[in-house]
Amino acid sequence: MGSDSSDKIARWCLGPSPKSLDAESVEIIRQLFLDQTGERYASESVRTLPIPEWRGNLVLLDSNNMIRGLLWSNKFKENRVRIVAFAIDSDYKGIGFGSQAWELLVDAALADGRNEIQLEVRGDNEFAIEFYKRRGLEIVSTLEGYYKAGIGYVMRGKISSK
Ligand SMILES: CC(C)(COP(=O)(O)OP(=O)(O)OC[C@H]1O[C@@H](n2cnc3c(N)ncnc32)[C@H](O)[C@@H]1OP(=O)(O)O)[C@@H](O)C(=O)NCCC(=O)NCCS
Repeated sequence: MGSDSSDKIARWCLGPSPKSLDAESVEIIRQLFLDQTGERYASESVRTLPIPEWRGNLVLLDSNNMIRGLLWSNKFKENRVRIVAFAIDSDYKGIGFGSQAWELLVDAALADGRNEIQLEVRGDNEFAIEFYKRRGLEIVSTLEGYYKAGIGYVMRGKISSK
């Protein structure tokens, strides 16, 4: 039997603080980052990412409660949210989960009195750059030496409720 997007059942859930993740989850997240962004994280680097438990800390769980994606953000300055990591497993990409997470984050930010989202993205990641531009973000500065692979951009934009 073939598989299509209807087999890909998963849901976004509130994530734990990274420091309380078990070893198996840390491994899955390291692999997700490596596969999806090419960035190699040490286990300790995953565990020490500054992500509180709040509605901007989301994990995508499949029907076996396996982690298939995450959107980790924190509260940055008075009115901003900063996305620290956003990645979805290849099997679950391109079927709307990224858009869903974005909407949940916008709701979380607005509920917390914040009206801007900021993030860093690799300069060669055209798909992500376009994804963010369609959601109202623009490039506000260029980062040299932030990514091993080349330049990066800081993107930022105002958000509003639909
Ligand atoms: C960026 C990412 C999180 C988006 O999640 P996603 O689940 O793939 O996103 P969606 O399925 O909601 O699709 C997003 C958009 O791409 C479009 N799309 C999906 N698959 C596509 C494809 N194969 N070709 C062209 N467009 C496609 C969708 O129509 C949607 O369009 P919209 O922005 O107009 O709504 C995910 O692709 C990812 O993990 N990428 C690798 C890691 C990464 O780059 N992270 C960001 C670092 S800052």
